[in-house]
Amino acid sequence: MSRSILVTGGAGYIGSHTVLQLLLGGYKAVVVDKLDNSSEIAIKRVQELAGEHGSNLTFHEIDLRDKPALEKLFASEKFEAVIHVAGLKAVGESVKKPLLYYDNNLIGMIVLLEVMAAHGCKKLVFSSSATVYGWPKVVPCTEESPISATNPYGRTKSDSTWKIILLRYFNPVGAHPSGHIGEDPRGIPNNLIPFIQQVAVGRRPALTVYGTDYKTTDGTGVRDYIHVVDLADGHIAALKKLADPSVGCEVYNLGSGKGTSVLEMVAAFEKASGKKIPLVMADRRPGDAEIVYAETEKAERELNWKAKYGIQEFCRDQWNWASKNPYGYEPQAP
Ligand code: NAD
Ligand code: WQD
Repeated sequence: MSRSILVTGGAGYIGSHTVLQLLLGGYKAVVVDKLDNSSEIAIKRVQELAGEHGSNLTFHEIDLRDKPALEKLFASEKFEAVIHVAGLKAVGESVKKPLLYYDNNLIGMIVLLEVMAAHGCKKLVFSSSATVYGWPKVVPCTEESPISATNPYGRTKSDSTWKIILLRYFNPVGAHPSGHIGEDPRGIPNNLIPFIQQVAVGRRPALTVYGTDYKTTDGTGVRDYIHVVDLADGHIAALKKLADPSVGCEVYNLGSGKGTSVLEMVAAFEKASGKKIPLVMADRRPGDAEIVYAETEKAERELNWKAKYGIQEFCRDQWNWASKNPYGYEPQAP
């Protein structure tokens, strides 16, 4: 009998790729998503891509804060573990609407943990972020590097019956190589690659490069980009690790361990797409760090997981998704 995993936010960018890898790995996946920044079309495409495993995916349009709905779901099915990916993630919007973010992300998490505990499901993989490292004084960032945002989730560690893995994602990019699922942000993209993609398909005139005077090889910011399929596989590795009796609450970086500058990324995308990306050089974006990349040794050693794909594959797959779906899951310009 296949083991059932609940994936919150499973219709979104990272969630949809993770659900596909789960299905292909022989798991049953149950997705809860309120379709806030995503489309049910992603779920249908994941089902298609999973072939004979597609029937092992079920979808429920539920807001995590809707406790009775979540209770009903847990009463109807036993979950081996939960992969909690649901969340609002636009940094700029969170500054403008902090209460919306606290309400959605924190209350959603609390309700989820309460319902899990009530139903005896105490294994959790949670999407954390390299953003917790802020502007690191030393790179690469290890899991022990100082964090500039405290993480209340880790406090559940005090209850030793819980098993929790916090995955600190670096910068997820790319798309499934089929080009059928990928990132489809609503509104103006905040992140570099979705913005480049929209310039390449003609939706925006130019990329604004934020900062050309950083102490890096070409003056632009350096990040650790990781292919979303590698990232999805990292969740399967984490699930397997949850079976280890020694796990209480563990943190793992999921990155490639390599730093890439904005201009290097632009050049690689131009090569993969054959499109020229016009640039507008601008000041630094407030709050941005200079160089951030991961130490990946802990995940390699303890999760037996390592990123397989590099910059050429990110750009190839991103362009494949973009050229097949210039308006994301919408058939045409809204
Ligand atoms: P995404 O917006 O594509 O997916 C998030 C999904 O969660 C969406 O489908 C949305 O509808 C759903 N959701 C949000 N609030 C919900 C709620 N209350 N109830 C039910 N569903 C809800 O984002 P993503 O890029 O896939 O990111 C997934 C997670 O990873 C987020 O928690 C984000 O903070 C974290 N993360 C993302 C990045 C990144 O750069 N993409 C980096 C680090 C961490
Ligand atoms: C990458 C580089 C920019 C856009 C953000 C969040 C973080 C995490 C991942 C969720 C930087 C430059 C960008 C543009 C540019 N998300 N850039 N022009 O800043 O590393 O992290 O996403 O947890 O919380 O803060 O990613 O893709 O926004 O930027 O020049 O239009 O590209 O300055 O150097 P970042 P990013």
